[in-house]
Amino acid sequence: MSKVGLIGAGGIASAHIKGYQQHADRIGVTAVADAVAETAKKRGEELRATAYTGSMAFREMLANEELDAVDICLPHHLHRDAIVAAAEAGKHILCEKPLCLSAEEAADVRKAVTENGVTLMCAHNQLFMPAVAKARELLQAGTIGTVYEVRTTDSFYNDFDPSSMGWRASSKTSGGGELIDTGYHPTYLMLHLAGGLPVEATAMLSTHRLKFMEGEDSAQVLIRFDNGVVGQLVTSWAYQPAAGTERFSAVGELGSLTSDGTTLSYRLRSGETETFEFEPVDTFVAEIGHFADSLLGKQRPLHTEEEGIAVLGILLAAYEGSKSKVIAPVLKV
Ligand SMILES: NC(=O)c1ccc[n+]([C@@H]2O[C@H](COP(=O)([O-])OP(=O)(O)OC[C@H]3O[C@@H](n4cnc5c(N)ncnc54)[C@H](O)[C@@H]3O)[C@@H](O)[C@H]2O)c1
Repeated sequence: MSKVGLIGAGGIASAHIKGYQQHADRIGVTAVADAVAETAKKRGEELRATAYTGSMAFREMLANEELDAVDICLPHHLHRDAIVAAAEAGKHILCEKPLCLSAEEAADVRKAVTENGVTLMCAHNQLFMPAVAKARELLQAGTIGTVYEVRTTDSFYNDFDPSSMGWRASSKTSGGGELIDTGYHPTYLMLHLAGGLPVEATAMLSTHRLKFMEGEDSAQVLIRFDNGVVGQLVTSWAYQPAAGTERFSAVGELGSLTSDGTTLSYRLRSGETETFEFEPVDTFVAEIGHFADSLLGKQRPLHTEEEGIAVLGILLAAYEGSKSKVIAPVLKV
């Protein structure tokens, strides 16, 4: 069984823990580190794991525990330091989105992971939606031919208020606003479906409703990929999308496919159509199972630091494009 140290035991850790419980034959949390003593103690008891607390918690855990891997569920500005510390301690890594916050941080992450020969998996849970996996399979099989356009949407009415928003309200700790948070999901989904590398991007950012946030609460992003695909992405905490808005879609030379997230249909110009329905899947449980298999050497994680850096590249170019009123190049890291 692979032994995992959980770093950051707040909100999203609950979803990950369910995954460890369901895959207990292959992977489990044996230590937990959180800056807040009460959180560390509660999670330690829940998991029957050794708990570390205080500002040096994860470094002490890395020094004292026999771990195969860590699972990083920290606020965004702390991801780089935790990844580098874990890699230097020789631990494999599952890291919540975003991978990190800047090109400099991304270079540090790649260097630490490569030099220490560890595996890093990005916790991109929506890749485990069955509709996404099927869409990727159809696109790679050439069902709709050469792909021209991909669209993704991830918007919802978020009832955050200043008292409940914590580190997400400040750009220093979140890295931006909604786009680098929830907007990370439709960006990695876009990368996964577009099948190329991002070349340039721009964005219109808005703050429609959550005025107390430093960053945007909504974003519209345009991305060009090196294989000619143009991506269009909408993401918001301010509003629910209009009825009928697709979760993702793709258009190509032979036809198109579209998904509401739970079903998937394609329609070809030849007249052929097909609709797929799927059993619901807990994407976090599937993600932890994938991580367990990756640690056992069964597969490369779907998204490693390489895809994480490409996603970050899109977002940094989108932010730059919005600020400078240009279409910005995706910088090479
Ligand atoms: N995949 C998803 O759908 C999804 C959903 C929510 C959050 N997330 C991601 O998960 C990560 C954490 O978000 P969250 O909502 O759980 O936040 P959170 O604030 O609920 O939890 C963060 C935890 O980290 C702890 N912490 C802060 N500084 C620390 C330090 N120096 N050392 C150890 N612990 C420290 C805090 O005490 C807290 O318990 C973020 O990257 C976020 O984007 C992903």
